[in-house]
Amino acid sequence: MSLYSEPEYLRDYRVEQQSIVVLDFGSQYTQLIARRIREQSVFSVVLPCTAPLDGIKAYHPAGIVLSGGPCSVYDKDAPPADKRVLDLGVPVLGICYGLQWMAHTLGGKVVPGDKREYGHAEVKLEGESRLFKNIPASLQVWMSHGDHARELPSGFHPVARSSNALAAMEDPARRYYAVQFHPEVQHTPLGSEILKNFVFDICGAEPNWTPQRFIDETVANVQNTVGPQAHAICALSGGVDSSVAATLVARAIGNRLTCVFVNNGVLRKNEFEKVQENLRTLGLTVVAVDASRRFLAKLAGVSDPERKRRIIGNEFIVVFEEEAAKIVTRDRRETGYKEPEFLVQGTLYPDVIESRSVRGPSQTIKSHHNVGGLPEKMRLKLIEPLKDLFKDEVRRIGHDLGMPEEILQRQPFPGPGLAVRILGEVTSERIAILQEADDIVVTEIKAAGLYRKIWQSFAVLLPVMSVGVMGDQRTYAYTCAIRAVHSEDGMTADVVELPWEVIKRISTRLVNEVRGINRVVYDITSKPPGTIEWE
Ligand code: XMP
Repeated sequence: MSLYSEPEYLRDYRVEQQSIVVLDFGSQYTQLIARRIREQSVFSVVLPCTAPLDGIKAYHPAGIVLSGGPCSVYDKDAPPADKRVLDLGVPVLGICYGLQWMAHTLGGKVVPGDKREYGHAEVKLEGESRLFKNIPASLQVWMSHGDHARELPSGFHPVARSSNALAAMEDPARRYYAVQFHPEVQHTPLGSEILKNFVFDICGAEPNWTPQRFIDETVANVQNTVGPQAHAICALSGGVDSSVAATLVARAIGNRLTCVFVNNGVLRKNEFEKVQENLRTLGLTVVAVDASRRFLAKLAGVSDPERKRRIIGNEFIVVFEEEAAKIVTRDRRETGYKEPEFLVQGTLYPDVIESRSVRGPSQTIKSHHNVGGLPEKMRLKLIEPLKDLFKDEVRRIGHDLGMPEEILQRQPFPGPGLAVRILGEVTSERIAILQEADDIVVTEIKAAGLYRKIWQSFAVLLPVMSVGVMGDQRTYAYTCAIRAVHSEDGMTADVVELPWEVIKRISTRLVNEVRGINRVVYDITSKPPGTIEWE
């Protein structure tokens, strides 16, 4: 069984250039490995560990990386891989489970550790290694493993150790390298250097993969997939992801793409109008639908976060289907074309990993509403050109597509909108309060020159009422939380230490200008253990 499907946009498309193939054994960090490699301008693709040898060879691998994974090599359902990946004649780097799989497969011995190593660790190098070129003899790394290799396969020697166990081994003659820690995560500060050594020094890869190349390949692939006549529709939110996905696809099939932008009633202040303006500048064919009343009617009386998400997701599908039917009828009259066959979505990699519970690697944490739903109901084939990318990679692609910075630098905004920032029931009154509060937060963060430096900064309306005093009058009103986080990809986040002056200004404005708020608190939780949104 494969853990992930092969990336959609590459399924019928074989790249001509060389790549580093990452075989996925189910780790949450697998895509990060590919992303770190792409950051070096080297093409990298993630394939399931069960990918057939021919499928792997089709990507012209200059090297193979074996990812981490949640299992032990001794588990009954331990993810398997074809042993012959080790005989392709290209260098192999095993990471965490990848190291254990190599050790086990090549005749070493993997044993359960006395204790699980999780978190920061210090690793000491033992002698020279090309993998650790220019790396100090002692380095900070991130570990997450239970088992470890006790006996190395013949030909291997140890290269680094932590206080508990072997941390790296290699067989340079066969160009096999393996590390027990995770070089791909930020918590291993020199991890990118280690991957760079593997990619360039050991694999001899060329740094020739650029956003422009991604654009050209995606456009060609979309043209191939959609063919010369079929039509596609796109659910556009006005955010970075769907705008970039739509622009890419429009570049491939022009006005055979129609975008639908739905006002679900929980957008930001004036957003419905602003987004339409932005989209016009992109030259996209857009149908804008104000369905706010319908959404709010469905949300009446609902407080449960997952129910809110489901309601918004489902209602979105209903509205979208109706609009798609209208587009079909209209266009059939005008141009005689058939129904759209394709649906374009701006799904990013973190949306996929957090929404889909694939055996082991990640539990479903929240059901992000832009993943799934529509295609099954509408029998549309999905085009998700950004499915393997992270937000900052998407921004780079958008930049190279010539899109305005105002769109590209927008902070992420969740599909279910303000509904997941209004704790408790979502009412028109509460939406209006939060729209004003959110507008103040965004305005002040922009005025302080911080908007682009912060991943997300926003207001959350809490259903907590408290007593205050204003102009000698007693008030009894809601509490507003301010949240500002730094993140690279939304999967983890650190709280931003906003300047006190900025917090005070926001707080004063919120209480003075927004009727219904009389108290402001600052959320200082990181992710994990918190999530970025409150619901
Ligand atoms: P959490 O709250 O899960 O958020 O830490 C991670 C990132 O995802 C955004 N988010 C969503 N985006 N549909 C989206 O398109 C959703 O349902 C959704 N829920 C959360 C969130 O704003 C943050 O950037």
